[in-house]
Amino acid sequence: MSQIIVITGTRKGIGRELTNYYLSKKNIVIGCSRGESTITDKNYRHYKLDVSDEKAVIKMLRATKKEFGKVDILINNAGIASMNHFLTTSTSSVQNILNTNFLGTFIFSREVSKIMMKQKYGKIVNFTTVASALRLEGEAIYAASKAAIENLTQTTAKELAPFNITVNAIGPTPIETDLIKTIPKEKIEQLLQKQAIKRFGNFDDIKNVIDFFINQKSDFITGQVIYLGGIHN
Ligand SMILES: NC(=O)c1ccc[n+]([C@@H]2O[C@H](COP(=O)([O-])OP(=O)(O)OC[C@H]3O[C@@H](n4cnc5c(N)ncnc54)[C@H](OP(=O)(O)O)[C@@H]3O)[C@@H](O)[C@H]2O)c1
Repeated sequence: MSQIIVITGTRKGIGRELTNYYLSKKNIVIGCSRGESTITDKNYRHYKLDVSDEKAVIKMLRATKKEFGKVDILINNAGIASMNHFLTTSTSSVQNILNTNFLGTFIFSREVSKIMMKQKYGKIVNFTTVASALRLEGEAIYAASKAAIENLTQTTAKELAPFNITVNAIGPTPIETDLIKTIPKEKIEQLLQKQAIKRFGNFDDIKNVIDFFINQKSDFITGQVIYLGGIHN
């Protein structure tokens, strides 16, 4: 049966890959990013917005509710990273990372939950990173923004459980997208060596975990953070 799936950050990278994957499974995907999308599938809608722009997000979700009547799944994928020693990190960089990663996840979760509560069904998947579990040097602000998302995941899982809404998070290892393009090769290699399974993650690894979280049989799975690669908190 076709589901209505909202995915943030769909222009490129993991978000784009997830969009094409769920479209190929005959779902309807409503996506967004700051740039235009080149996905032309008739079951895809794109909104050009910043996830931290509350008004634009509310407008997007109002239009979605009007057209499709419901939202089954929310995947809070949009995110940015910045590799920097915390001593040389500017306040504006911190604000930018927190706005996109944490505030964006918060606004989408709150607004989509209002729709899901009424239908008494919903699955929310958030994105964290192994950098948070590892307290990775050079990633202090990015990791902290994702730690906040993990905590939000666990608390909202409790607050939304009475409405039959589950909230879980996936924490990928490095995956070869633009997000990690500027990180020096030796830094990535050091990170891979900290994993139980010492390889890059790939899109199929991500889809596998998200498929599990959004499966209707996973109704008893909530407030969980699953890291790839054998990392634990
Ligand atoms: N790749 C990795 O190694 C890795 C590892 C762990 C976790 N993750 C997480 O996985 C998620 C996806 O990352 P990725 O690797 O696919 O990154 P990516 O290739 O850089 O793509 C990021 C996506 O988010 C969108 N985006 C960024 N800021 C936005 C904003 N303020 N508002 C709306 N959309 C925004 C971008 O589109 P626009 O530029 O058009 O806005 C783009 O579609 C992120 O949450 C990231 O933290 C990735």
